[in-house]
Amino acid sequence: MCGIFGYLGPKNPLQICLAGLEQLEYRGYDSTGIAGIRNGQIVFCKKAGKLSNLLASMTLNNLESAIGHTRWATHGQISDQNAHPHLDSLHSIAIVHNGIIENHHSLRARLIEEGVTFSSETDTEVVVQLMAKYYQGDLKSAVQQVLALVQGIYAIAVVHKDHPDQIIAAAKECPLAVGLDPMTHESFLSSDPNTFPSSNLDIFFLKAGEVAVIRKGVAEVYNAEQQPIYKSTERLQLHYTEPSKEGFDHFLLKEIHEQPHTVLKAILGRFQELTGNVEFESFQIKDEELAAYQRVCILACGGSAHAGSIGAAYLEELAKIPAQCEIASEARYRSMLLTPDTLVIVISQSGETADTIAALRMAKEARCKILAICNVPHSTITREADAVIYLKAGTEISVCSTKALTSQIAVLALFALHMARLRGLSADAAREFFRHLQQIPKQIHQVLNAIPQLRKIAEKYSRYDHFFFIGRLYMYTTSLEGALKLKEISYVNANGCPAGELKHGPFALINSDFPVVAFCANQQTKDKMLSNLAEVKARGAPILAFAPLGMEDVEIIANDVFWLPPTTDLLAPFTATVAAQLLAYYIALERQCNIDQPRNLAKSVTVE
Ligand code: AGP
Repeated sequence: MCGIFGYLGPKNPLQICLAGLEQLEYRGYDSTGIAGIRNGQIVFCKKAGKLSNLLASMTLNNLESAIGHTRWATHGQISDQNAHPHLDSLHSIAIVHNGIIENHHSLRARLIEEGVTFSSETDTEVVVQLMAKYYQGDLKSAVQQVLALVQGIYAIAVVHKDHPDQIIAAAKECPLAVGLDPMTHESFLSSDPNTFPSSNLDIFFLKAGEVAVIRKGVAEVYNAEQQPIYKSTERLQLHYTEPSKEGFDHFLLKEIHEQPHTVLKAILGRFQELTGNVEFESFQIKDEELAAYQRVCILACGGSAHAGSIGAAYLEELAKIPAQCEIASEARYRSMLLTPDTLVIVISQSGETADTIAALRMAKEARCKILAICNVPHSTITREADAVIYLKAGTEISVCSTKALTSQIAVLALFALHMARLRGLSADAAREFFRHLQQIPKQIHQVLNAIPQLRKIAEKYSRYDHFFFIGRLYMYTTSLEGALKLKEISYVNANGCPAGELKHGPFALINSDFPVVAFCANQQTKDKMLSNLAEVKARGAPILAFAPLGMEDVEIIANDVFWLPPTTDLLAPFTATVAAQLLAYYIALERQCNIDQPRNLAKSVTVE
């Protein structure tokens, strides 16, 4: 999962490209690089580490064009050598690539037999070495011949020293947008159109098999049969806001504090008190069609799958419709037996997660209708879904997703309420549910106001290297999410586990150095949780409990209790999740971890 950016035009290509890469660092930040043409030569600069490392060693200037890259390593360790751009041995062609070339080993072996020497471990260098082999003066043709040989997924941008006026671009199952302004003779390309510097661009997205020859302000596009094709363009309202920490130490802490506001935005104006009905703006699926669905299948990855699990429970509990949430990276290889009477919901903050996109396409092949719940306009998932409900949570910078997750749960709660109304739930019952949902922003505020207490608890538990996070009912998924947050940002081994499962094996690990974080905010399973905690206590593990005010019994068993504002069992995941986010944040702070850009991760996972 990398980011690529390119520019051709009268402005300073280097500066434009650097500005584009800065916004693309959410796609990968273990190395960056830029290449361009100057006086008939390819010049380039690439460096391991963040963009700031590249800037510190930047030697380039006076470029006629520029292509750039932010990397998340898939093939080859993190090093200057493996950073992009990659060049052929004669330095006549440079390439930046997002994706994975699956047959790179065999192609590399053939080239080595032909005497080609490689300077990196990457799959990408194989592609550019092949382009040099096939180049006979026409860069487009060389690119097309090589793409016919490679297997895998890719978005690429290519320049040649003899063609300073053009950039060749192509994409297959990886996003690549081209933005043209014939008036200013400018051309941009990027993995994410939201990184384009203006909304006055004619934008198109490259599809599999298409190759674009981009010049200043114009582009020709060819299909797999090398025939020129017409590409319709669109003007997109781009939503880029300069990310600011607004005085917080980290984007993560800022985004955690945004949640009272973002949960409110996710529900605001979407419930009609008078009718007790839910209405989503410009919603593309009619009520009668929604009411006819027999089943709902939710597909997502990582944290979004946790929100999906809670959403599936809401759909079954409120709308009485069979619902399940499947992890997309597994679902895409299983015969899911999806039928057209199944509504498929895909959940993705970024809208670019490769496994979720593949699962979406699998469901489409099964003739299912796709509803996307997403936070990023113009992303691949929003463009391929039949209907979209936006989170309206604003740009989420921190890799560790927080505000997007609670907004996903809020939207799923509203959608379940919508389905419930269509399946007979009374307006009064809907109003009752919404009245509790409306309290959530204020209750999240109460949790944020208790940070000093939570920080003390986090400092106490920051010395442990292993944790169990346990819960029952909706608190089980919350425990999975809590464990994921701690893993993501503090590199601590945290295992989410259904409380009832401990005695079926995990108990073997329990000891005084292995704290158990217990989510006890569901009244329905309170007694069962208390007996599970008694079993844990009997085996000497420290217990930190998250419990609603008034559930005093917990205090008898737990070593530490963080009290949550009481709410319904269905809605308890909101405040419990925010408390778990803060626990992870303050433990990571104690352990001096790189909180906003944790190692080995990236904000958007665009490869399998
Ligand atoms: C969550 O904190 C992680 N960043 C990760 O698990 C994330 O939820 C997952 O990669 C899915 O991303 P998406 O919502 O953008 O599809």
